[in-house]
Amino acid sequence: MSQHYNDTPQNKDRFTITAALPYTNGPIHIGHLAGVYVPADIYARYLRLIGKDVAFICGSDEHGVAIPMKAKKEGVTPQEIIDKYNGIIKKSFEDFGISFDNYSRTSAEIHHKTASEFFKKMYEEGKFIEEVTEQLYDEEAQQFLADRFVVGTCPKCGHDGAYGDQCENCGSSLNATDLIEPKSTITGSVPVLRETKHWFLPLDQYDTFLREWIIKGHKKDWKPNVYGQVKSWIDEGLRPRAVTRDLDWGIPVPVEGAEGKVLYVWFDAPIGYISSTKEWAAREGKDWEPYWKDSRLIHFIGKDNIVFHCIIFPAMLQAHGEYILPENVPANEFLNLEGNKLSTSKNWAVWLHEYLEDFPEKQDVLRYTLTANAPETKDNDFTWKDFQSRNNNELVAIFGNFINRVIVLSQKYYDGIVPEPAAFSDIDTKTLQELKKYPEIISNSIEKYRFREASQELMNLARLGNKYLADEEPWKVIKQDEERVKTIMYVALQIATGLAVLSEPFLPFTSKKLKEMLAFNGLENDLKWNDITEKEIQLPAGHKLEKASLLFTKVEDDEIQKQLDKLEATKKENRAAEAKNTPKVAPQKEIINFDDFSKLDLRVGTILEAEKMPKADKLLVLKVDTGIDTRTIVSGIAKSFKPEAIIGKKVTVLVNLAPRKLRGVMSEGMILMTEDTEGKLTFVNPDTQDVNSGESIN
Ligand code: 2FM
Ligand code: ZN
Repeated sequence: MSQHYNDTPQNKDRFTITAALPYTNGPIHIGHLAGVYVPADIYARYLRLIGKDVAFICGSDEHGVAIPMKAKKEGVTPQEIIDKYNGIIKKSFEDFGISFDNYSRTSAEIHHKTASEFFKKMYEEGKFIEEVTEQLYDEEAQQFLADRFVVGTCPKCGHDGAYGDQCENCGSSLNATDLIEPKSTITGSVPVLRETKHWFLPLDQYDTFLREWIIKGHKKDWKPNVYGQVKSWIDEGLRPRAVTRDLDWGIPVPVEGAEGKVLYVWFDAPIGYISSTKEWAAREGKDWEPYWKDSRLIHFIGKDNIVFHCIIFPAMLQAHGEYILPENVPANEFLNLEGNKLSTSKNWAVWLHEYLEDFPEKQDVLRYTLTANAPETKDNDFTWKDFQSRNNNELVAIFGNFINRVIVLSQKYYDGIVPEPAAFSDIDTKTLQELKKYPEIISNSIEKYRFREASQELMNLARLGNKYLADEEPWKVIKQDEERVKTIMYVALQIATGLAVLSEPFLPFTSKKLKEMLAFNGLENDLKWNDITEKEIQLPAGHKLEKASLLFTKVEDDEIQKQLDKLEATKKENRAAEAKNTPKVAPQKEIINFDDFSKLDLRVGTILEAEKMPKADKLLVLKVDTGIDTRTIVSGIAKSFKPEAIIGKKVTVLVNLAPRKLRGVMSEGMILMTEDTEGKLTFVNPDTQDVNSGESIN
């Protein structure tokens, strides 16, 4: 295998930025925004502002197997499902200002053509292994099982809900036949093995390439979570992976003898980045090729997509031979919601379209909260309290307050015309110098993909402005020194201008509003990122401003309570659904009379000793103080309790049960237990330890 690889583009100013293509089997929520789309958007907007040539690419991933599954469940066609969610998702992105240059769909003709050609080129150049192997088959559904059609226990981490292609618990990429105790998700039956032909990408042959490129190459500047995962997968040994499937939903395998087979969704989806670039270029009258042959390729993804973007897709790109490899894959960790994992099936999410119904006009607040608390290095929690405090204490109290004071005072004192400054004091000069440092400070964080840090630096610039006004108190000084106030307001307006420019990647709606208030359209040239440092002044004296309007408004307690109530209602619904699905309790036994009951001699006992019965995995041999005596009781509780954990426990003992021998040990009584439908045992014990052995229970 050739070691040559293409990851050093000539053109350092061209960027191809991709954001993971979302599956169109549901709407998107805050986890998607925080993990992928907001950071990608900040990055793309920033690069445009520093004058780079950017293609920011995304689209819908429409061949996921969950799509036909959902369609079947709802009695509609897969096409109806993808059309519905493609529309909803696309609108959410627009609503939140995600500035894709192109948003395509993998059902588009251009994508089918691009993915087919990609496969064909690899096929013709002998890059696949064609092999008949035994795969899992559901006899009842008469269908081969792969990916989400089969679940089982992960051979790597033991998680029992792993899918046929990936374990979402440990992130391992799997082959369906690796699963322990596989089960069909269509019929619940245990699959059999049946022969079928598939095309495999021999990942093992790319081991040297991947080691050279990632491990020996300079990929140590990848985020530690990404680099670490990739390195350990390579070290574990890579195996060939099927890139075709026996399914009827997807892109037909474009070679002879492959009837009824489609491309594996993870083979076609990343090629979607290329197709989407082509679609964009065609629309814009551009050439797409430089964006895939001489460009800096950055993939923004969630952590469950790492293996596909760092191993499988690069191996495909390398095999194809004409395209660049990613320069970086800044994958984020996961976002939780109020302490629990986001879950579509449990409706544990803040859906973007619902958020906007409750907080119209507050897109930037969510963008900011998700950035300030982004799951960059570890899983993080979104809480409504944090959302409220980010809004009220930072956006309203610092950023908004500063801007409002600047514009309102400028209107009041100067009819909205930027005043001519008098001599600058030390504090003025220092403040202007501080302002000029911010483009670089924020750039440094963004270029290292540290968007949280970058957002906090932006807020620090607003703090600088707020403090400057609070210290200089123009509203007081105006009474004795009008000239001085002109300088103060002039300086403050330069900071406001800096905020208008530098906030754009993070708070695009706010930035736009602020630029309108500062009447940027009346400036000779549009201000770019580095102008804040390089231009002597940003907003010249004599420039006419527009009226002030509020950038941010407070989020009140009752609005937060409403969201928390909504989540509480979801919890209740989930509990009710769970209870409904829980198997019924055993029916009541036949009626007995009081005499029957009073024959039972039930006592409080104390377990003094416990040990496992040799060669019996269910039995413990207990020594129990019954108050009457100390006796041996053999109890079938070894699967639920460790012997050392139950010593000293107060329990309920039926002491007058006829003794019997169990595995050669005479058992003189019975310990009472509760047992749930899954066989989980709990002692029936007094809810206080304040009782003594021998006390009777009646
Ligand atoms: O995990 C997902 O949501 C996938 N649909 C991401 C695909 S990214 C790419 F390769 F297209
Ligand atoms: Zn696992």
